[in-house]
Amino acid sequence: MSLLEVDDVVVQFGGVTAVNHASFVAEAGRITGLIGPNGAGKTTCFNVISGLQKPTKGKVRFDSKTVTNMPVHRRSKRGMGRTFQRLEAFGSLSVRENVRVALDIHRGLLGLVKPGAADLDALLERVGISAYAAERADSIPTGTARLLELARCLAGEPKLLLLDEPSSGLDESETGAFGDLLKDLAAGGCGILMVEHDMDLVMKVCDEIHVLDFGSVIASGLPGAIRSNPKVQKAYLGYSDEAPDESAALVGTHHDPALHDTSVLPVVPDEIGAVR
Ligand SMILES: Nc1ncnc2c1ncn2[C@@H]1O[C@H](COP(=O)(O)OP(=O)(O)OP(=O)(O)O)[C@@H](O)[C@H]1O
Ligand SMILES: [Mg+2]
Repeated sequence: MSLLEVDDVVVQFGGVTAVNHASFVAEAGRITGLIGPNGAGKTTCFNVISGLQKPTKGKVRFDSKTVTNMPVHRRSKRGMGRTFQRLEAFGSLSVRENVRVALDIHRGLLGLVKPGAADLDALLERVGISAYAAERADSIPTGTARLLELARCLAGEPKLLLLDEPSSGLDESETGAFGDLLKDLAAGGCGILMVEHDMDLVMKVCDEIHVLDFGSVIASGLPGAIRSNPKVQKAYLGYSDEAPDESAALVGTHHDPALHDTSVLPVVPDEIGAVR
């Protein structure tokens, strides 16, 4: 059984179907990518998985238990950690205090005894933001704030990490270090489900990728197979290599113009694997 199973989930907002019978899984010890154009339903899926959004239909199973109707805090206690596309740190607290709050919450009564400096320092060090420890959270660069969110998540010792666009705001070398950190966390047994628009990062670190378009999963597979999948190319670029249709590329309302770049689906060495 997979660590996370999203089973035939539908989410409707009035007349808008944000998620349309989506089914996918994420495994412990692996990095799973959830990608797709803007508005494809990725964040809505995360909201359903983490309990912020009740699905119109479908089920979510986490760590062998159906959690579809379980409140957010209980999912969190069971080992689900999440970062947000829109940053959610306490702006008036320092970076260090933000992580301390997360540690205190995770430890419950033990949190009454202040966490040892070593725990805090180790977390800040692990995500690479020790230099910002004393800075107010609302004064640090966006990329650093995303790493702070990750540190707060890790304070909860999650079995599953849900990361919504974690690398936006990171520069190239920070993104490289971030990718290494994700691999390290997965090697330690943590399951990671990541929504990410940086396709270089996705293709480098993900063990498996699911692609959403208009709320539906249009492909699942290994990075190489996803990159060369005509349906995926069409969803991102408006046309595929197999059936070029330049006019379709002009249909830009659903697709982010920033993604109309051939570097979006770069060549990766391991072009093997099954695609639905
Ligand atoms: N609370 C809401 N009420 C109404 N419509 C919503 C709501 N939340 C999301 N939507 C709509 O659902 C669709 C999916 O949105 P969602 O935010 O899940 O997409 P996304 O894949 O995360 O996009 P992005 O890459 O831009 O973050 C969009 O059409 C969006 O406008
Ligand atoms: Mg989103």
